[in-house]
Amino acid sequence: MPALVCALAFSGASSSAQAQAAHAPGEAVYAKYCASCHDQVDARIPTRASLTQMSPARILRTLDFGLMMSIASPIQRDDREAVANFLGKGADDTKPLASAFCKPADRKIMSAGARESWSGWSPDSANTRYQPSRSAGLKAADLGKLELKWAFGFAGDVTAFAAPTIVNGTMFVGSAGGTVQALDAKSGCLYWTYQANGPVRAAMGVSSDGARISLVFRIKTVGSIRSMRAPAHPHGRSEWSRTRRRG
Ligand code: HEC
Repeated sequence: MPALVCALAFSGASSSAQAQAAHAPGEAVYAKYCASCHDQVDARIPTRASLTQMSPARILRTLDFGLMMSIASPIQRDDREAVANFLGKGADDTKPLASAFCKPADRKIMSAGARESWSGWSPDSANTRYQPSRSAGLKAADLGKLELKWAFGFAGDVTAFAAPTIVNGTMFVGSAGGTVQALDAKSGCLYWTYQANGPVRAAMGVSSDGARISLVFRIKTVGSIRSMRAPAHPHGRSEWSRTRRRG
């Protein structure tokens, strides 16, 4: 008798495992296309546990337009959705809280002097990445006394890579999720955000025709370069974009 009980229990367990496998194609897609990198420990690769904190929609965007676009190219759309739903346990990316935005008493966008600027990759064309003491408002002797003044989290992201660009006291920075944000460099309050269709990987360039300032940035992997007005606008607005043809 005990043998029969055992046999029944065994066959029940195996059929439920089969049913689960049939209903978890996302797990199979993960094992085939993702596990070789995301299951191993490497400082550059987000762990599987950190991917589960993202929302399915955010993971799908990474596969369709983002950093994993080349890896996902052989994967059918249904399987991309399946792996995104299998991995993503996080809530959908939320909009910034109302309290994150600048208040009327805060200084206006780009209202500080040109001295408070750090244009893209390096403030000078010699690429020294050097900021003179007058612009930085710091002396070498002050460096040991620096303290954290404010912090800003990129909603839904597990990596950050683009260096910020600062124009007249306003910081423009892109994120892995493709959001460009305009922040007051002094207080960290948010003026506006703009959603691009791919990760903004590097510092934005700044061009000015005297009357207005535009930000130029490259959307990595989509191969697109976009110019955006950076005005005293409630939202950033894209002016033009060029997409490089592949091959
Ligand atoms: C060849 C190794 C490799 C494979 C295979 C791979 N990834 Fe990644 N993945 C990476 C690395 C490296 C990063 C970090 C990239 C960076 O920050 O530049 C990353 C980052 C990510 C991110 C976060 C990106 C962001 O937008 O912040 C997601 C989500 C992700 N991978 C999902 C997947 C999924 C889903 C699969 C399988 C379909 C997959 N990856 C397969 C190496 C890999």
